[in-house]
Amino acid sequence: MFDLLVINATLPDGRTDVSLAVQDGKFIAVDEGLRAPAAEVIDAQGLLVCPPFVDAHFHMDATLSYGQPRVNQTGTLLEGIALWGELKPQLTQDAVIERALTYCDWAVAKGLLAIRSHVDVCDPRLLAVEALLEVKRRVAPYLDLQLVAFPQDGVLRDPQGMDKLKRALVMGADVVGGIPHFERTMSEGALSVKLLCELAAEQGKLVDMHCDESDDPLSRHIETLAFEAQRLGMHGRITGSHLTSMHSMDNYYVSKLLPLMAEAEVNVVSNPLINITLQGRHDTYPKRRGMTRVPELLAQGINVAFGQDCVMDPWYSLGSGDMLEVASMGLHVAQMTSQAAMRQCFDAVTVNAAKILQLEGYGLAPGCHADFVLLQARDTVEAIRLRATRLSVFRRGRRIAHTPPSTAMLQLPGRPGSTAWMA
Ligand code: FE2
Repeated sequence: MFDLLVINATLPDGRTDVSLAVQDGKFIAVDEGLRAPAAEVIDAQGLLVCPPFVDAHFHMDATLSYGQPRVNQTGTLLEGIALWGELKPQLTQDAVIERALTYCDWAVAKGLLAIRSHVDVCDPRLLAVEALLEVKRRVAPYLDLQLVAFPQDGVLRDPQGMDKLKRALVMGADVVGGIPHFERTMSEGALSVKLLCELAAEQGKLVDMHCDESDDPLSRHIETLAFEAQRLGMHGRITGSHLTSMHSMDNYYVSKLLPLMAEAEVNVVSNPLINITLQGRHDTYPKRRGMTRVPELLAQGINVAFGQDCVMDPWYSLGSGDMLEVASMGLHVAQMTSQAAMRQCFDAVTVNAAKILQLEGYGLAPGCHADFVLLQARDTVEAIRLRATRLSVFRRGRRIAHTPPSTAMLQLPGRPGSTAWMA
């Protein structure tokens, strides 16, 4: 007898009437029409069952700090960075832990069970690193938290930047971060990419850099990042986050760049909510969107994920940990409205992001962890359209969150008993 059997599910690949059998926290069979005795049977009633959402780019040290010590009045990137500089010395470990745990609760409720968070390593106390390592330990039973040692002030621009970053790695940070476009010069930026990739190669770490988060078409650190990935044999282990300058680059140059990125198997994370609000701020009209070239990257075979980046922090006053909101914004900004492209947007917040984090046992296949979400939607496109309610969230075969269906009961003349999905 199985521990759990989910029947009559629709999967993201379009298969219907699928049953998922769970034993000891893992899927042991995923077959159409399978029926067998189980301790618990859930009838999905034709609704979508998907693997958990994964956020490949977040800042958990700053999340939910909105209004501390003051609100970002202009809503710009530069005021956000200044504001974070004001807040950093006032941070306490307890406050960072408390805010991060609250955010993880929100995430679980939304079926978001794996997050890669950058953590600022430019504070000499490394207080946020210590706090988020503690959060990582506490949430491990229900959420995979991966930490990037992120030198917000520039690993070379900050005189002690490299030392602090190395200390964060010793403490337990998983991934080497960077911010080459924020270094003093283009050449210093390129040097930072080289040094950080070499450090990661030596230590067997992954790399994920904030790269070219700028409207400057000549910000081309992604070229160096792809070169280093290829030179050091780090294929598939290096990620470029944001890459917004690519939006403004010359088309001819991009036609050379994309094959180089594909050859080096560089991953890309685009952050649509943040890019559409922070980029193009120096423009009058027409105003650039500032998001990287997602359809063109995907067409080149490059792995692209969408990240949330910020929720209620110095840079962004909105957000809720809802990766379907992120997918929806990415879909709109990139004009990914073909049937295939809309499905790719769902992949960008699930399987593509999981690939970037190199999550083990992720997916709806026999042998994978029985981690899944039952949505109030019949397919992936409807899930994005409705930001569908996460009816149930499972981790290792155990339900960890439950939300009632969002269905309005209408009281209309001539339409007795009618309802509307408001999910
Ligand atoms: Fe970021």
